[in-house]
Amino acid sequence: MPLMPDQATFNHAAQILASISADQRADLALRFYFEAHRYLQPPTKREISHTVFVYFRWLSWLDPKSPPQKRLAHALTLHERFTADPKSIKAETLAALAVPRWLASEMELTPEYLRQLQRDPALWIRARPGTAAALAKSLFACERTDYAPDALRFTGTQDLFRTEQFTSGQFEIQDLASQLVGLACAPKPGETWWDTCAGEGGKTLHLADLMANKGLIWATDRHPKRLDTLKRRAGRAKLFNYRTALWDGGTHLPTKTKFDGILVDAPCSGVGTWSRNPHARWATSPDDVRELAVTQRALLEAVAGSLKPGGRLIYSVCTLTRSETTAIADAFTLAHPELEPLPLPIAPSGSSDPSRVMLWPQEINANGMFVAGWRLKKS
Ligand SMILES: C[S@@+](CC[C@H](N)C(=O)[O-])C[C@H]1O[C@@H](n2cnc3c(N)ncnc32)[C@H](O)[C@@H]1O
Repeated sequence: MPLMPDQATFNHAAQILASISADQRADLALRFYFEAHRYLQPPTKREISHTVFVYFRWLSWLDPKSPPQKRLAHALTLHERFTADPKSIKAETLAALAVPRWLASEMELTPEYLRQLQRDPALWIRARPGTAAALAKSLFACERTDYAPDALRFTGTQDLFRTEQFTSGQFEIQDLASQLVGLACAPKPGETWWDTCAGEGGKTLHLADLMANKGLIWATDRHPKRLDTLKRRAGRAKLFNYRTALWDGGTHLPTKTKFDGILVDAPCSGVGTWSRNPHARWATSPDDVRELAVTQRALLEAVAGSLKPGGRLIYSVCTLTRSETTAIADAFTLAHPELEPLPLPIAPSGSSDPSRVMLWPQEINANGMFVAGWRLKKS
């Protein structure tokens, strides 16, 4: 992606910015704009999106009284300077301007974390099990990682959705942190799992692949449209070891089945995705964090009784706030003596508590994520 957009891209981005306020979702504004400008080609759309996201990353540095074009030009200059030399902007300045003030009470704002937030995010794909090396060769511009065997960082410019490899189900676009959640679950072929907040199925498909299309995954969500997308994606990947059901997270469960494993990939404030969705920094409030923590705890409570003896419960959130991560895990552990901490296969060796992993964006060059695991004691 060129650091400085051409004039046409700049003008499109400025038009979009003129139509939205800081607390509106930039991704939605982009979608509406692209729907109204169908002639734009995917590479141009990518550059426009990148330019709009750069603006939101540097928003607090900009003078709100100056016209959108001037603000955008300033944001792009800051981004160019930062990319050339990340230390050119002091960590204290980043702490004061790159994130909302309330975040400091919810997590430690290290210079490394803050610098990672201002970088362009990496694009990760998940190859089908055991095919990463071959896929990397056929797609070009892919780098492997030691964190996950099937993960590839894509550094090319082609539109991945239009590749033959994508349409034939050879890979999914999935962030490395999300792939690590699947690896933390470590489901075995033939097991029965419940993906309670399956959404569009990113993790369901990964679990189904890890289970080699054998066994059964209940994929539930409160939004039927998301489950429809899940079914389309599963069809493309030729994965059939799942069924879908609606579940609103309440005490009326979709099934009386007892599971070998349950994944609660809960709705969260998404702080771990703030490099990718910089506008969300200014649209998320401490009230959101408080309300989401209540939902997260309720989801865990609702499903805790659905484990078989020895069954595993995995909790994941793409956020880094204490209220939604360690505080949830602490309170849930205290309330459930029938569960024991489950060491996670993704925990770094020598970890003092391998049943909990905080994935930091600056360490894995991907989204931030928290994962915790428990197992129902056998007796
Ligand atoms: C983090 S997203 C899930 C992403 C998905 N697991 C994936 O990997 O693609 C959280 C999901 O929880 C769902 N959700 C939100 N509140 C819920 C609730 N109370 N009960 C069940 N699902 C809920 C949302 O619809 C959303 O799809």
